[in-house]
Amino acid sequence: MLTLRRFFEKDAPQLVEVCNDGDIQKYLRLNKLPYTEEDALSFIRYCQFSEKRGAKGEQCFAIVYNNIVVGCISYRRDRGCHAHCAEVGYYVGKQYQNKNLAERSLKLLSKLIFVDESVTRLYAVPACENVASCRVLEKCGFVREGTMRKYFYKNDVYYDCYLYALVK
Ligand SMILES: CC(C)(COP(=O)(O)OP(=O)(O)OC[C@H]1O[C@@H](n2cnc3c(N)ncnc32)[C@H](O)[C@@H]1OP(=O)(O)O)[C@@H](O)C(=O)NCCC(=O)NCCS
Repeated sequence: MLTLRRFFEKDAPQLVEVCNDGDIQKYLRLNKLPYTEEDALSFIRYCQFSEKRGAKGEQCFAIVYNNIVVGCISYRRDRGCHAHCAEVGYYVGKQYQNKNLAERSLKLLSKLIFVDESVTRLYAVPACENVASCRVLEKCGFVREGTMRKYFYKNDVYYDCYLYALVK
């Protein structure tokens, strides 16, 4: 069974299992190897703080599969004239990949976000070579709108990215 819920401090060890992995981090802003229980706890506290900030904060959810935290999915509203837009991000631990968990999580999250009528555009900017993430977005109805050249830079490498969006 798959559910999305908020993070609790007790989730830290399972989050370490997922995040202490260079392949998971490769296309994420997250850049901490080794990823320790202290890193997980500070992320969970950040999520709890952000939750309280409402529309101003990133909203993070644990992806829970059969009672195990297997990943994370989040969104963050843009500001000002872009406040109707929200960027989504997600990851699923290696041993749980290719079971449609990201697809199902993103479908759930999109539904949840669109309950708020002031949000009309969700978007994501995966590296073009991140085939799995592009596929997840396509399975969820996101449309590829273009290429953002050299948009993501990490560990001395520039990555071209696709811009995907789902518009209500
Ligand atoms: C991207 C990610 C979240 C996908 O999670 P997941 O739960 O495995 O996703 P799903 O099972 O819903 O879908 C994965 C799809 O990609 C496909 N896929 C995976 N690897 C692939 C590859 N190398 N080539 C082609 N297709 C691939 C799968 O076959 C599946 O498509 P299908 O349902 O049509 O068969 C996961 O790979 C991940 O956490 N990656 C690292 C973090 C990351 O890159 N996050 C996104 C940043 S934009």
